[in-house]
Amino acid sequence: MAPSSSTLCFLFLLGIFSSTFTSSFTEIGARVEGSGRIRRRTLMDNGLGLTPQMGWNSWNHFHCDINETLIKETADAMVSTGLSAVGYIYINLDDCWGELNRDSQGNLVPKASSFPSGIKALADYAHSKGLKLGIYSDAGTQTCSKTMPGSLGHEEQDAKTFALWGVDYLKYDNCEDTGGLSPKERYPKMSEALLNSGRPMFFSLCEWGQEDPATWAPSIGNSWRTTGDIEDNWDSMTGIADQNDQWASYAKPGAWNDPDMLEVGNGGMTTEEYRCHFSIWALAKAPLLIGCDVRSMDNVTFELVANKEVIDVNQDKLGVQGKKVKKEGDLEVWAGPLANNMVAVVLWNRGSSSANITAYWSDIGLKPSTVVDCRDLWAHSTETGVEDEISAEVDSHACKMYTLKPHTNRDRS
Ligand code: GAL
Repeated sequence: MAPSSSTLCFLFLLGIFSSTFTSSFTEIGARVEGSGRIRRRTLMDNGLGLTPQMGWNSWNHFHCDINETLIKETADAMVSTGLSAVGYIYINLDDCWGELNRDSQGNLVPKASSFPSGIKALADYAHSKGLKLGIYSDAGTQTCSKTMPGSLGHEEQDAKTFALWGVDYLKYDNCEDTGGLSPKERYPKMSEALLNSGRPMFFSLCEWGQEDPATWAPSIGNSWRTTGDIEDNWDSMTGIADQNDQWASYAKPGAWNDPDMLEVGNGGMTTEEYRCHFSIWALAKAPLLIGCDVRSMDNVTFELVANKEVIDVNQDKLGVQGKKVKKEGDLEVWAGPLANNMVAVVLWNRGSSSANITAYWSDIGLKPSTVVDCRDLWAHSTETGVEDEISAEVDSHACKMYTLKPHTNRDRS
């Protein structure tokens, strides 16, 4: 049977989408017959998150103490420091941006005392600087702070409000009264509402890994939290890295595991511990959402989060989450494949004294006898012609991070 004209139209539009990965709403849809409306088929066709999201979020440092001046100053700092130029694009409001009650039409209302100009003005401001604005809501009746309403039962209305305001990203939490409905029922509703809102918005699910979202969220969201909240200390960070690791195989372009936002720069860990935090998050294709006050960021913090070579691992086009491949006591090797047959490796010493850590080619998926150039992403130095293994002395609570680039046959001759 010959394909109908609507099928051909659909295939044509799909072809445009897959060849350009455009996020333009109308180009990635299929026309609903007779209605003249353009509809996307699923939220995942939003074309967003082909690499993990990068940006800043207010929660880890400021909690509920946020206002529009802070957000604008943060946007300014993201640009002036050069962080936006290395990929940190999203400026994300977390909890506490709204009034406790909806207005008489049931709309969410920005808090007059802290966001007097409204969210649209903030989105316009972010866009004028080449940034994107993210917002926060909740799949229950109230957000976790209990200072503002959640979106349960208001999904379509709230998604339309966010679209109207020019919002680019929604983090969707899981607090308070959820009407006895499981996340698997509540989150798809918002996904559908975003789909129908008329504006592509990155959808970040935050149900803390309670119902193994890696197994169902990839079709409805761009990322999903795999754990409870991170705290600014070594034990929390290492525990969360491990919890997230078990879901590695579910991550893919457009759909990422989220072990929570970065604590780098907040003061609770040493520089080397933060280097481990950032290296492992980058390797694990985690969202890189800075969680400190970027307006007063010191050079040490900047050099950690702005390391383009480490960011490039996170943003690698292959989109495969690196994982723990070897553990001998507290000494670990984490690794994952990158585009162009390259491999990223982290040697991670979680113990209390300095030690030698070795990754053999068999540990990290390289064929025996492969010769590589080994790039140290923190020392910014390259060792050429390395064979069989990489090995390094690694301090306590520290790590090394490398990319390995196999020689081609031509290189070898
Ligand atoms: C938690 C969430 C945090 C933050 C907080 C706001 O549930 O995991 O990342 O959003 O709520 O109240």
